[in-house]
Amino acid sequence: GKGPYPYYMLKEVNEQPNIMRKLTTLYLDAKGKPKIDHKLLDKMNQADRLYIIGAGTSYHAGLVGKNLFEKLVHIPTEVHVSSEFAYADPILSKHPFFIFLTQSGETADSRVVLTNVNKMHYPSLTITNVDHSTLSREADYTLLLHAGPEVSVASTKAYTSQIAVEAVLAKALGEVKGRQIAVDFNLRHQLSLVATGMQSVIDQHAKINQMAKKYFVKSYNAFYLGRGTDFYVALEAALKLKEISYIQAEGFASGELKHGPIALIQKNTPVVGIITQKKTAALSRSNLEETASRGAKTFTIVRRALAKPGDSFILPDVDEMLTPLLSVIPAQLLAYYTSLNKGLNVDQPRNLAKSVTVE
Ligand code: M6R
Repeated sequence: GKGPYPYYMLKEVNEQPNIMRKLTTLYLDAKGKPKIDHKLLDKMNQADRLYIIGAGTSYHAGLVGKNLFEKLVHIPTEVHVSSEFAYADPILSKHPFFIFLTQSGETADSRVVLTNVNKMHYPSLTITNVDHSTLSREADYTLLLHAGPEVSVASTKAYTSQIAVEAVLAKALGEVKGRQIAVDFNLRHQLSLVATGMQSVIDQHAKINQMAKKYFVKSYNAFYLGRGTDFYVALEAALKLKEISYIQAEGFASGELKHGPIALIQKNTPVVGIITQKKTAALSRSNLEETASRGAKTFTIVRRALAKPGDSFILPDVDEMLTPLLSVIPAQLLAYYTSLNKGLNVDQPRNLAKSVTVE
């Protein structure tokens, strides 16, 4: 049941710190070495390219995974929306390895791709929350998310668990390949920082509720901006908001703004800047200011080390590869409180089902 929570979504958001701790003990030994089936790692080690397939939030978790695999393993990684990839006649590399991300393990669009992959005898892994689900049974390997049942239609804890499992896998494969950056990546320590950091964001729920009221509740549109992994989180943040608050929310790459989307900015349009990456922080800030000078109501979600006076929401510091695990939390809660304050059914938004079993 929901326990003391009015909605499953809030319960599931609140479970995330403990899930990070649980995944740490399940997937990393006391010395921080990944506990991953060596047969899976051998198979992946033979691949020349990874293909990550998913829909919705799982696709967004895949985008974050691409950064982890490319940095830690140095393997080219493509991420595709399953419904698109299924009919795209993709030109594959010589030795592809497929990773299916799916909370439910039942998403029809992703299953179509896996069926094709099996016909071609390419190796595959499903990362899912549901043991014995269809995509788990049909793939060669499975890694479980161990997040516990996710009931709310808006996916939250599955997203962060998927990223954490991708991080373990990327570290494991990077170590197999003898990559020093993977050996040095202290994931055990980082995930404990993430868990504590998530909790400190969740503890600021009253402030986030105020921000939801101030920026979103009365708006018919809203924008999230970011670069690199911050852009990937912007996509997820916008999906969360549109799904349960019915606000037309979009995530944009900060630098793309001036190539079109900035035309949408009017007086009081809410624009959220996600800023966690050192290399792009200054550019992201100036893109955000360009919207402010056209009347946008802007606010920032910023990693502490990059914070400036006047920033709206400060995130605790973690490794830059893992910042999505923290920056998504205020976005999840902003969506939650916007939906709640609008008096909507947070867990069961209109027109949506928890698992989409038709193409
Ligand atoms: O079960 P899956 O992860 O395969 O589901 C994929 C999407 O249907 C799912 O993430 C959907 O986008 C959520 N409602 C997002 O909150």
